[in-house]
Amino acid sequence: MVENKWGLPDFGLGMGLRSVHYDHVLTNKPKVDFFEVISETFLDKGGKPMAILEEVSSHYRVLLHGVSMAVGNTDPIDFEYLKKLKSLARKVKAPFVSDHLCWNAYMCHNSHDLLPIPLTEKTLQHVVGRVRQIQDFLELPVALENPSNYLEFKMSQMSEIEYLSRLAEEADCGLLLDVNNVFVSANNHGFCPDDYIEQVPVERVLYHHVAGHTDKGTHIVDTHSDHVVDKVWDMYTRLHERHGGRSTMVEWDADIPDFETVHNEVLKAQHYRDLAEARVKERVNAG
Ligand SMILES: [Fe+2]
Repeated sequence: MVENKWGLPDFGLGMGLRSVHYDHVLTNKPKVDFFEVISETFLDKGGKPMAILEEVSSHYRVLLHGVSMAVGNTDPIDFEYLKKLKSLARKVKAPFVSDHLCWNAYMCHNSHDLLPIPLTEKTLQHVVGRVRQIQDFLELPVALENPSNYLEFKMSQMSEIEYLSRLAEEADCGLLLDVNNVFVSANNHGFCPDDYIEQVPVERVLYHHVAGHTDKGTHIVDTHSDHVVDKVWDMYTRLHERHGGRSTMVEWDADIPDFETVHNEVLKAQHYRDLAEARVKERVNAG
C-alpha cells in the first residue's frame, strides 16, 4: 500500500453527477460514495443549479473536475476563473481540484477544447511554473489528468508518463490517472499501456477515472459512451496492486443510460480492487 503524498483518504467509488440523473439522485438519495461534478457547470451559477449542488453536497462527498485551468496556455493565468473555482471548492469542501494536462487558448482565442502539449523540456518548465502558481492560489492540491491523445509532436523529447512524473514532482502536484485514456492513447500511438502503468508515480495519484470508448478500427475515440473494457480493468487492477485503494469514478457522458447502469459500472471496481489485494497477499505469503 502506497499512500498518496497528501495523506488524502480513499473516497471510494463514485460517479459523475449528470443532469439526466438529477431527479433520481435528489429523490432517491442512492448509496454512492461520491459525485464528481464538472466545475464549470456550477461557476457563476445561482438559482436552480446551485440549489441542486448544495443539496447534493449536503448528502455526498463532492469532487471537482474542471476543463478551464489550461496549465499549458501561454496567455496569462486566468485568476478570475481561479477565484471562482476556489470559492466553489470551499463551498463543497473539495479536498482537491482536478483538471487536464492541456492548453485551450492562444491570445485570448479560446478553442473550447483540450489541446495536447508538445512534451519538451521547455513546455515542462512552463507548465511547472503555472501549476505552482495555480496551486498556491487555490491553497488546495491540484490533480492533473493524463489526456486521451490523437496526435503526437515530432519535437517531443520524452514520453507522456515521464513528462507527467516530472511535472508532478517539480510542481509538487497530484495526478488524476485516467486508465481508459492510457489505453486510448497507447492504441492510437502504438506504445505499451502496461509499461506506462508500471511507470506511474503512484504516490502522486489522487484518484482514477475509468470510462468506455469507441473503437473505430484505425483509431480509438474516448467517447465515454459505453462500458469499461476488460483490458482497462486489467490495467486498473495492476495499478491497485501497486498503490492500494484509490478513489475511482466512471465517466459516462454520451448515450448516458439510467443511473443504476452507470453506478453498477463503477461498483465493478470493487471486484478488481479485491483481486489486486488478493494478488498482493498471495505474493507476501509466497515470500
Ligand atoms: Fe477522464
